[in-house]
Parts: sequence; structure tokens; C-alpha cells
Amino acid sequence: MPLFQWLFQRLTGLVLLVGLFIHFLVMHYTGGEQIGYQAVMARLDNPLWVAFDLVFLLSVLYHGFNGLWGIVTEYTSDGILRRVLHAVIIMAVIGLTVTGVSIITA
Ligand code: HEM
Ligand code: HEM
Repeated sequence: MPLFQWLFQRLTGLVLLVGLFIHFLVMHYTGGEQIGYQAVMARLDNPLWVAFDLVFLLSVLYHGFNGLWGIVTEYTSDGILRRVLHAVIIMAVIGLTVTGVSIITA
């Protein structure tokens, strides 16, 4: 695995550690109405929450799928199976990134 992928896996892991802690506190300890439509829309009016959500979303997508690709490269050798799995991962990342970013910035 190239150095920047190794490094980014760890950096995004750190972002997730902090981000998941904040996400967990907001979603579970600030009252049940926090996960309702109105509360989510109110948060998305605040550029700081939009920035948080974008960083959080892009980090989990990179971390999860780069990690999955790392596993694929460990269990497959160069060939058709690896190329198909690579294409599936790339398409999933693109689809989820476009969907997630357009929801957050809508
Ligand atoms: C029961 C647990 C959870 C609840 C109730 C919950 C709830 C929510 C809500 C209401 C939002 C909308 C954004 C906002 O209001 O700030 C959101 C966004 C998000 N959540 Fe969670 N969440 C949970 C668990 C998780 C976990 C475990 C992860 C990561 C593995 C995660 C990742 C994300 C990401 C990346 C976003 C931003 C993406 C977007 O808005 O498109 N969530 N979550
Ligand atoms: C507290 C949050 C998290 C931290 C601190 C964290 C940290 C890490 C670190 C340091 C690695 C590299 C391990 C190694 O190369 O030996 C890793 C790998 C990985 N992470 Fe995370 N991670 C977190 C959350 C997540 C989430 C939410 C997902 C899924 C969406 C995920 C999926 C993966 C995968 C698939 C790998 C590759 C596993 C492997 O190579 O065997 N992680 N994580």
C-alpha cells in the first residue's frame, strides 16, 4: 500500500475517533428531538455543522473503502477478480460521495 494511503488511513481514523465521539454525544445525549427532521435542518443551516458533516462523511468514505481495498489486495492476486472489486469500490465511493455531499449541501 502506498505511503499516502497508509498515512491517510490513519489520519482519517483519527478524524473518525473524534468525529464519532461528537456525533454520538449530539445524537444520543442532547434529547431525542435532535435526530428529527427540524433539528437536522436547523443544524444544516449552520456552516460549521455543514463543514463537520462534510469532513466526517468524506473521512468515513475514504477510511472504510480504502480499508476494504487494502483487504482486497491482501486476499486477491492481480487479475480479473481484483479489477472487478476495484471497479465496484470506485463506483460505490463515487455514488455515496455524490449522494452524501448533495444531501449535506442541499
Ligand atoms: C444510532 C446512531 C446514530 C444516529 C442516531 C445518527 C444520526 C445522524 C443524523 C440525524 C445525521 C444528520 C446530520 C446531522 O444532523 O448533523 C447523521 C449524519 C451522519 N452520520 Fe450518523 N447517526 C448514528 C450513527 C452513525 C455512525 C456509527 C456513523 C459512522 C460510522 C455515522 C456517520 C454519519 C455521517 C458520516 C453523517 C454525515 C453524512 C450526511 O449527512 O450525509 N452515524 N447521523
Ligand atoms: C474510532 C474510529 C476509527 C478508528 C480510530 C480507526 C482506525 C483504523 C486504523 C488505525 C486502521 C489501520 C489498521 C492497520 O493497518 O493495521 C484501520 C483500518 C480499517 N478501518 Fe478503521 N477506524 C475507525 C473507524 C472505522 C469505521 C467506522 C470503518 C467502516 C466504515 C472502518 C473500517 C476500516 C477498515 C475496512 C480497515 C482495514 C482493515 C484491515 O486492513 O484489516 N474503520 N482503522
